[in-house]
Amino acid sequence: MRQFFPVDDLARDERFVQTNMAKRMADSRSAVGVKKSAKSRGASNRLTPDRHDASEAARSLMHGIMVGEIQALEGAGRTAHDFAAGDGSGDTIPFELKLDMARQAWDEARHVEISAKLSDWMGTELGQFSENTVLFEAACSNDPVLRLAGVNRALEGLAIDVFTQMKEFGQLAGDPFLEFCEDWMLADEVTHVKMGSDWLRKVTENDPDRRAKALEFQQVVDKLFSFGGARGDSDESPIGLARRFRELAGFTDDEVDTIAEMDHDALEERKAAVRLAQEAAGV
Ligand SMILES: [Fe+2]
Ligand SMILES: [Fe+2]
Repeated sequence: MRQFFPVDDLARDERFVQTNMAKRMADSRSAVGVKKSAKSRGASNRLTPDRHDASEAARSLMHGIMVGEIQALEGAGRTAHDFAAGDGSGDTIPFELKLDMARQAWDEARHVEISAKLSDWMGTELGQFSENTVLFEAACSNDPVLRLAGVNRALEGLAIDVFTQMKEFGQLAGDPFLEFCEDWMLADEVTHVKMGSDWLRKVTENDPDRRAKALEFQQVVDKLFSFGGARGDSDESPIGLARRFRELAGFTDDEVDTIAEMDHDALEERKAAVRLAQEAAGV
């Protein structure tokens, strides 16, 4: 079977509309809803059912979760297959890491089914929103440790934040299907992030340069998703930073603080840009 599968060759039917990070930032349909300043809608900008754009934002986010689950399945499957079993040096990964990736693929397959059903339940059609392929792209690195850092820690870490917010959204909206499905998926994601944390530390135990490179890649991916402060500690961010679950998933307090700082800077940058645009328009 073929190894190292490029993102352009992912199997998708005609319903899917793919995009990448750069295009997504300019896509008016994609936002979790950082379109207006928090000031214009009150103190909090969290994704809650009382927001005027709650339905569209929640459906867009749920569709994003669904396609993310497909790519997470594909990525974990690739990592289980792309590297030979060995001691973790060179192009090899420990056999137990392969087993964890296989277990993850099994979980993600279940998440795809759950998310597709939830999207349908929320009145969304497959392909109604674009598919950002950044998760699979992060799973294409030739170094398996970079995949663990970019996918399991950065992007599935983000999934922990998103699922926590969506669970709360379901609870507030009185939708037990959404609330409990997100809760179950959240539990799995915590184990996936923990796998990433544990294996990254174990495989790079005697290779500080490799570890530093992986953590640097993780920060690059985290920063991409800090865009506009869409996720962060502040109530002005639609998605909160799920500190407790991140702790359970093997993040240190310092690591979570660094992400919070990045999110904060991104939020301030966006607010400054909005102010400049308003001044230029004479608002
Ligand atoms: Fe998942
Ligand atoms: Fe996952």
